[in-house]
Amino acid sequence: MKFFVDTADVDAIRELNDLGMVDGVTTNPSLIMKSGRDIKEVTAEICAMVDGPVSAETVATDADGMIAEGRELAKIADNITVKVPLTWAGLKACKTLTDEGRMVNVTLCFSANQALLAAKAGATFISPFIGRLDDLNIDGMDLIQEIRTIYDNYGYETQILAASIRSPNHMKDAALIGADVATAPPGVIKAMANHVLTDKGLDAFLKDWASTGQSIL
Ligand code: G3P
Repeated sequence: MKFFVDTADVDAIRELNDLGMVDGVTTNPSLIMKSGRDIKEVTAEICAMVDGPVSAETVATDADGMIAEGRELAKIADNITVKVPLTWAGLKACKTLTDEGRMVNVTLCFSANQALLAAKAGATFISPFIGRLDDLNIDGMDLIQEIRTIYDNYGYETQILAASIRSPNHMKDAALIGADVATAPPGVIKAMANHVLTDKGLDAFLKDWASTGQSIL
């Protein structure tokens, strides 16, 4: 499973990228707002740092507006993926932009039928939002499974990009189901390294080591 980082925080991306953990980046208008930076400036900085796709989201609500914004965002760098919402207008924009050879991420997906339409429109990525379904007491992972089954049934090449990931368990479950990509906040990716037994075991080793009076260096 590829790891995308869901943030516009350049320092956080750099830390993970230096460890080889970043296959791409996703941003959205809320994350740009949180960064406090200009969208083109911060996106260009991210694109220069990361080799993989970097999603930059349009904000127009009509297809022509999304297409114009998508073309403008795509000028930032070759690894820009234009992100459009899963509305009818977004599907039209997706078709036009993919026909032009651009990568498109269709976002705000909450149903398997929406994902099926995005695949028909040629989307490079579909972004089903797990956490926001969980918030409504609907199992977001069921959606990932449904989309996986449908895409595999017909050989759609659209990549399932599990989004709105809130916990390490979401990462594990997405990987078990076979999501192509998961995008998560940096804190969730780092939390995947944690285990209480690791901490406990390390404490015991260090105490025993101290009692030997030895040093390695
Ligand atoms: O990838 C989409 C993400 O940014 C939304 O996450 O936690 O706001 O639902 P969240």
